[in-house]
Amino acid sequence: MKNEIKIFSPATVANVACGFDVLGFCLDTIGDEMVIRKTEAKGIKITKIEGYDLPFEPEKNVAGVSALAMYNALQPDCGFEIEIYKKIKPGSGIGSSSASAAGSVFGMNALLGNPLNKTELTNFAMKGEALASKCEHADNLAPAIFGGFTLVKSACPLKVLELPTPSDLFATLIHPQIEIKTSESRAILPKEIPLSNAITQWANVGSLVHALHTSDYDLIKESLNDVVIEPYRKQLIPHFDDVKSTVLEAGALGCAISGSGPSIFALSKSEATAKAVQLAMQNVYSKSNIQFETYVSKINTQGIKIL
Ligand code: HSE
Repeated sequence: MKNEIKIFSPATVANVACGFDVLGFCLDTIGDEMVIRKTEAKGIKITKIEGYDLPFEPEKNVAGVSALAMYNALQPDCGFEIEIYKKIKPGSGIGSSSASAAGSVFGMNALLGNPLNKTELTNFAMKGEALASKCEHADNLAPAIFGGFTLVKSACPLKVLELPTPSDLFATLIHPQIEIKTSESRAILPKEIPLSNAITQWANVGSLVHALHTSDYDLIKESLNDVVIEPYRKQLIPHFDDVKSTVLEAGALGCAISGSGPSIFALSKSEATAKAVQLAMQNVYSKSNIQFETYVSKINTQGIKIL
């Protein structure tokens, strides 16, 4: 059995407009790399972090917290070193903490001969995610670990449903270089919502799930609407309304906040449309003085990959 593996731990888009805290999908072109190494010395050590300034103490690092949760539960006869090559900016809204939290447990599991299934891995990764967002949610972790589109049917006990990915679906993202902390963007949300909005929202979730199963792109378009969360959170994201209207004109099926923001995602039918949408996003933000990155990605149906 190998003593060391290198993995690609992907960025993810949580919520997917209508599915706050339950829906998510996995990206292909953006993600962290991590090296996990088995050691004779017991315990978890983070030995290298490149890309961003993050804590090396396992108890303070999301990758370390999820690794410790799994390690303490399994009590293996070895230890692990973790190297993190962070490419996803923390606070970007594309699952930076999830990529770290999922990557460490995925890597350790592989080195131990895969004793845990994907749901069990997600459960341990949720402990790391909770350090970053102050709550245990799995809508970024599930797509990172399972790949494709996922629906978290229940967080406790954890039940993840894997949804099909229509083959022509592409994502476009813009990441304005401002930081929004998940904990803060959760704090501004109302504790209760009007029944009429709830009805609209659960109709959209149901129809989006049906649309993914039937590859019905028109229905995907009709379903990608968020009447519950977006009205509050969009105020934190400069030019959100402009980006949304411009990319819909450019042919996107839908556009919404990625996770807790500030990234904005769009879904399109075909890579060509996704690239036109990328240009439309760039046009809006290049008129501002905010730095930004844009990405086009197919949906990653595999999730975390061993490199
Ligand atoms: N569902 C979470 C939220 C995702 O929107 O707060 C955060 O990454």
